[in-house]
Amino acid sequence: MTAQELRKLYIDFFKERGHKEIPSASLLPENDPSVLFTTAGMHPLIPYLLGERHPLGTRLVDVQKCVRTGDIDAVGDENHCTFFEMLGNWSLGDYSKPESIAMSFELLTKYLDIPVDRLAVTVFEGDESVPRDTEAYDLWRKQGLSESQIFLYGRDENWWGPAGITGPCGPDTEIFFNNTEKPKCSDSCGPACSCGKYVEIWNNVFMEYNKNADGSYSPLAQKNVDTGMGLERVLAIKNGVNSVYKTDLFIPMIHKLGEMTGIEISSENERQYRIICEHTRTATFILGDPKAVTPSNTEQGYILRRLIRRAIRHSKSLFGQNVLSELAKTVIEQYSNAYPELEQNREFIIREMDKESATFEKTLDMGLKKAEKYFSMLNDGKILDGDLAFKLYDTFGFPIEFTEELAAEKGLSVDLNRFHERFIEHQNLSRKGAEAKFKGGMADNSEHTTRLHTATHLLNGALRKVLGDTVFQRGSNITAERLRFDFSFDRKLTADELSKVSDIVNEAIQKDIPVICAEMSVEKAKEKGAIGVFDSKYGAVVKVYTIEGYSSEICGGPHASHTGELKSFRILKEESSSAGVRRIKAVIGE
Ligand code: ALA
Repeated sequence: MTAQELRKLYIDFFKERGHKEIPSASLLPENDPSVLFTTAGMHPLIPYLLGERHPLGTRLVDVQKCVRTGDIDAVGDENHCTFFEMLGNWSLGDYSKPESIAMSFELLTKYLDIPVDRLAVTVFEGDESVPRDTEAYDLWRKQGLSESQIFLYGRDENWWGPAGITGPCGPDTEIFFNNTEKPKCSDSCGPACSCGKYVEIWNNVFMEYNKNADGSYSPLAQKNVDTGMGLERVLAIKNGVNSVYKTDLFIPMIHKLGEMTGIEISSENERQYRIICEHTRTATFILGDPKAVTPSNTEQGYILRRLIRRAIRHSKSLFGQNVLSELAKTVIEQYSNAYPELEQNREFIIREMDKESATFEKTLDMGLKKAEKYFSMLNDGKILDGDLAFKLYDTFGFPIEFTEELAAEKGLSVDLNRFHERFIEHQNLSRKGAEAKFKGGMADNSEHTTRLHTATHLLNGALRKVLGDTVFQRGSNITAERLRFDFSFDRKLTADELSKVSDIVNEAIQKDIPVICAEMSVEKAKEKGAIGVFDSKYGAVVKVYTIEGYSSEICGGPHASHTGELKSFRILKEESSSAGVRRIKAVIGE
């Protein structure tokens, strides 16, 4: 089975059962500062899981591109990836556990032909605040799973979410493939064990709680089901291979590298080979995203930089050359059917990858020599001084994780505390400031962040009034404290323009205008002059939020009900974000 066949099989299965297909959202989450990347299919759906009405109804299905960097050190083994595609289906207050478990079971056993005895599932065993999920247990038994195939675990294993710090979450039941040919590694070996006997394939979350900013949980008014299945892993299982790198998602990349360099993959070089392919694929997707970031020293740009630089090092060491942008071309060709944005952004992807390569290649060899020298000078402690690690970062552009990897290859470690002290001094960032950045976000759905979201629409409208229709939103990020809005414009705003923009927003606030939400077809929204992302491929119906006279935007919400709730609006700062993009930070309600 090919990846494209599996995507289609999954979507069709759920469409036939009343689900509507939605497109993959951007890898860069909108309005949520608590995570850097979209890490699950549920992420772009948070407002709907919290009770906003979705224009396509209460049953949804999609394939969502995701990036998770938590397992980056495990990349190179059979199955771990930083980029993956999540097949997901949702019930937004519609069906519940019986239907969800029955559909998953049917798809796995009847459509993907996985024998029942190769399945193992886990169920929430309960704790002092949430009872054991006996319903899920009984439902699995009813499907024919024996007691020995059902494992009960606590919160560490069987509770999912929230995706960031706050947001929807709940107990889950996870479905695993049992590699029966592999013996148990110990008596207690089960799905929670990482020995590789059990491979997680699907997670069904019964999303019934919201985690609040103070750490407490409140029941959600609407009980949802949120599921996620890893495309790569299921594809490997379906094709009877033991690694995601042996599926058509990676084979073309591996062939290309062999052809290009004359060095074929082998058991000796397979880890490096895989790291190069995997990281190049992730970097291609980040650069090819409609909301692409470029390599930098902060946030998403930093992760991108780390991935590219790590891949370059392995590429130079294994092949004696940097293969990244050639390999990116294979990724683009192979994935453009499912993700046309890659083809559309081909030039940008290659240019940015080459630019980052050129910068890093200037310092890589010298930096590696310097690192060798530092390592050779270490005495018994075997710990590299944080000041030296900082020098490798500052002078040679070695991300700290990169230096840690070099050290680990020699059985050494790095004084991270000292490194971070130097890093923070250098950034002139107080630790407090760094933490505050991650509070709040749309995921907390508090009234304040909801109002900041409405302020963002007013700001967008006001900018277009003052600067003209060439202004388009390029990014939005909301924390508990402020909004941040990026837009296309190619010069600094004058003081006069800024005060006009701010006056318009405050005028709208004073008029206490109702914020009206209407559902309509994309064509109708365009006709009415609404701005926003028009995706004509799917989504026949969209929501349009209108503040009469000031703004009309396609958006998922939620929003304040009247502009007066915002009380006041003040611009803190206007600055450049990147070439052709300006950034405004602003606060409300002072
Ligand atoms: N949101 C769930 C997960 O990521 C389905 O596993």
